[in-house]
Amino acid sequence: MSPASAAALFETTFGCAPEGVWSAPGRVNIVGEHTDYNAGLCLPIALPHRTYAAVSPRHDRLLRIVSAQSEGVVELSLDDVRPGHPGGWAAYVAGVVWALEQAGYAVGGLDVAVDGSVPLGAGLSSSAALECAVGAAISDLFGLGLLQSPTSRRDLVTACVAAENTIAQAPTGGMDQSAALLATVGHALLLDCRDHHTEQIPMTLDKQGLALLVIDTRAEHALVDGQYAERRASCEQAARELGVATLREVATSGLEERLAVLSSDLLRRRARHVVTEIARVQGVVGALRSGDFARLGEVLLDSHASMRDDFEISVPELDTAVDASVDAGALGARMTGGGFGGSAIALVPAARADEVRGRVAQAFHDKGFGAPHSFLVSPSGAARRET
Ligand code: GLA
Repeated sequence: MSPASAAALFETTFGCAPEGVWSAPGRVNIVGEHTDYNAGLCLPIALPHRTYAAVSPRHDRLLRIVSAQSEGVVELSLDDVRPGHPGGWAAYVAGVVWALEQAGYAVGGLDVAVDGSVPLGAGLSSSAALECAVGAAISDLFGLGLLQSPTSRRDLVTACVAAENTIAQAPTGGMDQSAALLATVGHALLLDCRDHHTEQIPMTLDKQGLALLVIDTRAEHALVDGQYAERRASCEQAARELGVATLREVATSGLEERLAVLSSDLLRRRARHVVTEIARVQGVVGALRSGDFARLGEVLLDSHASMRDDFEISVPELDTAVDASVDAGALGARMTGGGFGGSAIALVPAARADEVRGRVAQAFHDKGFGAPHSFLVSPSGAARRET
């Protein structure tokens, strides 16, 4: 799982060396969940885990795609890419070529070999990493110049989101692609999804003797099933009933009186999560800026409770990961990503990281869950050319 292994896969599959290798990272979100499609705030970091795409352009409109994480070669014409086709992981490759062409860029066929270290199905955005690695390759190979500046990278984010929404048919909000294309080493990315303003927030936990633990619960997670879409639809309905364009426009002060007009308790709880979660992003940014890590930990816990009780996207494995982390000395913890499985994060004293990992594994064992996979991460860099 390196630029060299992607290049080697390319060579054994297609019989020649690739033109180059590009990569993009997975992400974990520190706070701000299900806020992106509500024009809210979120705060992801790029993971050290990356997806590598070895790519050559073709002179026809054929796409040939192979992955070390899957069997066989997917082959189709760019003219046959459409909603739902190709299915599965190849949609994240073919969809990006399609979306860039739709946006008016002159692109063509590709040979692509993928190898990656972003855990699959763990809620760590392996699909966005794949889209953005391929998008970076297309930009360089067809001279689109989209990696040049944060502004042009934003255009590539838009294309990758279109690929995911339209071809892969996952109605996601754009946080993952923004992290994969805009995050920088040592920083969390404060993303304002209303005006697309971004700010790099320094996050050097090691200097404070702290570490960020990611706990992949291995509980199944998928964004293309109905639950994510249902949450998004509820938020849009709540906004309509409140007479606002998006839930971003609802203030936290006087929130309960405002939400009282909603037609159901379910919509009240969904909207309450989004509005309070946006405020928690500001709380975490403030805590990072002032170095108040105890406060940061509390906000993470509040966020988890809101996702568990109001937004109802947690599962017992995620709750166990959070509770066991805190029992073992974490300052705070929360589930991260879309939910219904996937991963949690825990802010831990570095010296206690192994203890926390062990206690989480023990708690999973005691409850009869499969073994979790946990690892320490620090904020890494965005999509780039490797070779
Ligand atoms: C998934 C989606 C994102 C975002 C998160 C929840 O990761 O891809 O757009 O909505 O869920 O915060």
